Amino acid sequence: PVLVVDFGAQYAQLIARRVRESHLYSELVPHSMPVDEMLAKDPQAIILSGGPASVFEPGAPGIDKRIFDAGVPILGICYGFQVMAHELGGTVDRAALGEYGKTHADIDHAEGLLEGSPAEQSTWMSHGVAVEHAPKGFEVLAHTDGAPVAAMQDPSRGLYGVQWHPEVRHTPLGQDLLDTFLHRSAGLRDNWSASGIIEDQIAKIKAEVGDAEVICGLSGGVDSAVAATLVHRAIGDQLTCVFVDHGLLRKGEVEQVKHDFVKATGIRLIAVDAADDFLTALKGVSEPERKRKIIGEKFIRTFEKAQRQVIEEAGAKGKEVKFLVQGTLYPDVVESGGGDGAANIKSHHNVGGLPKDIKFKLIEPLRTLFKDEVRAIGTELGLPDSIVWRQPFPGPGLGIRIIGDITKERLDLLREADAIAREELSKEGLDRDIWQCPVVLLANVHSVGVQGDERTYGSPIVLRPVSSEDAMTADWSRVPYDVLATISTRITNECRQINRVMLDCTSKPPATIEWE
Ligand code: XMP
Repeated sequence: PVLVVDFGAQYAQLIARRVRESHLYSELVPHSMPVDEMLAKDPQAIILSGGPASVFEPGAPGIDKRIFDAGVPILGICYGFQVMAHELGGTVDRAALGEYGKTHADIDHAEGLLEGSPAEQSTWMSHGVAVEHAPKGFEVLAHTDGAPVAAMQDPSRGLYGVQWHPEVRHTPLGQDLLDTFLHRSAGLRDNWSASGIIEDQIAKIKAEVGDAEVICGLSGGVDSAVAATLVHRAIGDQLTCVFVDHGLLRKGEVEQVKHDFVKATGIRLIAVDAADDFLTALKGVSEPERKRKIIGEKFIRTFEKAQRQVIEEAGAKGKEVKFLVQGTLYPDVVESGGGDGAANIKSHHNVGGLPKDIKFKLIEPLRTLFKDEVRAIGTELGLPDSIVWRQPFPGPGLGIRIIGDITKERLDLLREADAIAREELSKEGLDRDIWQCPVVLLANVHSVGVQGDERTYGSPIVLRPVSSEDAMTADWSRVPYDVLATISTRITNECRQINRVMLDCTSKPPATIEWE
């Protein structure tokens, strides 16, 4: 693998992902892993990530110097670059000028790591510490106003470093730099593809499951559909999918999922109507994290209850369901505080929202993947576009789109408004431009309106169309005014309790995509 050594960077996983976009398998390891252990993984190349520390502060995370003599090509990025410079005898100091965001870099030598680079590059930086002098044997390739050494290399030892972040899209030539490092400097050949991931996962799942019975919590979305299809490839009829109708689904969703999924995959599916159960448990609850925890727990209890039926349908008398498949993705893990040292932003229902006493062992074949990788795998597995390109819909469903407590009436109202918005956006062919468009009911807010010559006092609906690459960051979509106007008119006409429609024009960050 290509090892990405994580120094606590926000972007470490992004580096791993970009390496995969260069068609090479990557693994993330903590900087605290002993160097011998890293080398035992037989890395083809190593990338040292950025991180929040300063190398000269006491207790700053470093790395055993021996790694630089192991004969493995190494690229240091930002903090990782400074660690390399520091450990090998260069000088690193507080920068005369901190650089945050878009930064202009002058390329002094367009060779090696920067082969083919124009004389100037726009780069994305985030540093208040700089490498003043490169270690002996290194050639300085670039500088900026705040970084006398912004890129350096010693090809004879296979060591390279850059101050800027090649992994973010804001560095336009960043992917080129990573490509150059991996394919030219390190001389690696492609080894990562959707078909490779599939083979790998199938082998892993087979080995783990043996002849046990497995259920998969299917939501109808691309993640659980791909996870189920992968597991089905591995173990065939030992898999039963369970689709829980928790009463928080959108209009027509139950029928549509049942029909589309079974038709596309032929996997055995049981639908469980648990709406009353969920709504009772959620009664009077308006705090978002509590809602998420309750829903996460209820999902598991519903799967547990469905066990007997699953065993019956599977014709597996006397056996037990041992495993539960979930379509958890990496962003869910990170945002639920599951990444190393990451903060808990919200408890995604299938990660942070799970109860501690689960009777099943979890199988999460997509846990290290990003959405675009999952979509590529779905296509490779032969799933139709209607599933692969379905917009994301959160497991807790409309439950986290009613701001306030959840009632049947509010759900019905939101379902109608949501159906109108979806219908109009699809009609305009915007389904792929828009990553997803949550429709949110501000149930506790009331404003005065006039409808049919009468005063009304109703709740607003918020439209939250966003564009995104991976849901980790997002921008609000510039939906044409005409389309917004149609949606607004239809919602206020057809849903009498709604007298205002608002547009959420906030990116992520600072907001998240869902309101709760
Ligand atoms: P946020 O709101 O965190 O959402 O910016 C990022 C993406 O994740 C979806 N989401 C969830 N998906 N279970 C899921 O399966 C959850 O609990 C959950 N919460 C948010 C959200 O729709 C967006 O695509």
